[in-house]
Amino acid sequence: MLSRKADCDVLLRSLRAGAVLAIATVLVVGASADPNSPSDIIKARQASMKAMAEAGKTIAGMFEGKLPYDAAAFKKSAETISRHSGDAMVIEFPATTLGPPSAAKSEIDQSREEFDALARKVASFATVISAAADKAPNGITQDMRMGSSSSMGSSLLGKRQVPGEADIAKLPAEHAFHLMLQECSSCHAKFREKVK
Ligand code: HEC
Repeated sequence: MLSRKADCDVLLRSLRAGAVLAIATVLVVGASADPNSPSDIIKARQASMKAMAEAGKTIAGMFEGKLPYDAAAFKKSAETISRHSGDAMVIEFPATTLGPPSAAKSEIDQSREEFDALARKVASFATVISAAADKAPNGITQDMRMGSSSSMGSSLLGKRQVPGEADIAKLPAEHAFHLMLQECSSCHAKFREKVK
């Protein structure tokens, strides 16, 4: 009787261990076989954000004269932001990846329209900045500069109103760049929280 109970315990224990092992195996295999696991998506979007920040620094450096203007590098940076914003950014935030350990707030899922609009605004501004490089192969032109030509340039800044698509296309690149950075900040203020 005693020994049968002991056998039984051993059996149960090994069954349990087996089950735990099986589950662990599924988890490990699952994690490495699925390129779309939440943690991979989080890592990928954080890398996208970093790439945009780097690109933004390059563009800012050229506008401020801290970096020599180079039309190709300027355009490449704008294209980097373009590539990682808009719809590409929208799909990098599926509901299962929101909240800790990521810095993306779970509120994103309740505010999709607002979030997506911010991501798309960044893309629109980046397109304007990229196009400007085509017309300025040798140096930053006067009409790329803040407040140049545009009838709306300074009034927009003064009132801080959000320009529509058609207006965005007419903005001097430097102005588009500053408005773009405001969209980055607006989204971070609303939808990002430091988790560490
Ligand atoms: C629509 C919202 C949105 C827009 C627009 C946006 N971001 Fe972000 N950004 C986020 C969120 C949310 C996170 C946190 C991501 C996470 O931890 O999973 C983040 C994180 C970052 C990070 C930290 C990445 C890391 O290593 O953890 C940087 C840098 C960054 N963003 C730069 C930018 C720049 C530059 C722009 C504009 C060109 C921009 N972002 C536009 C929402 C946005």
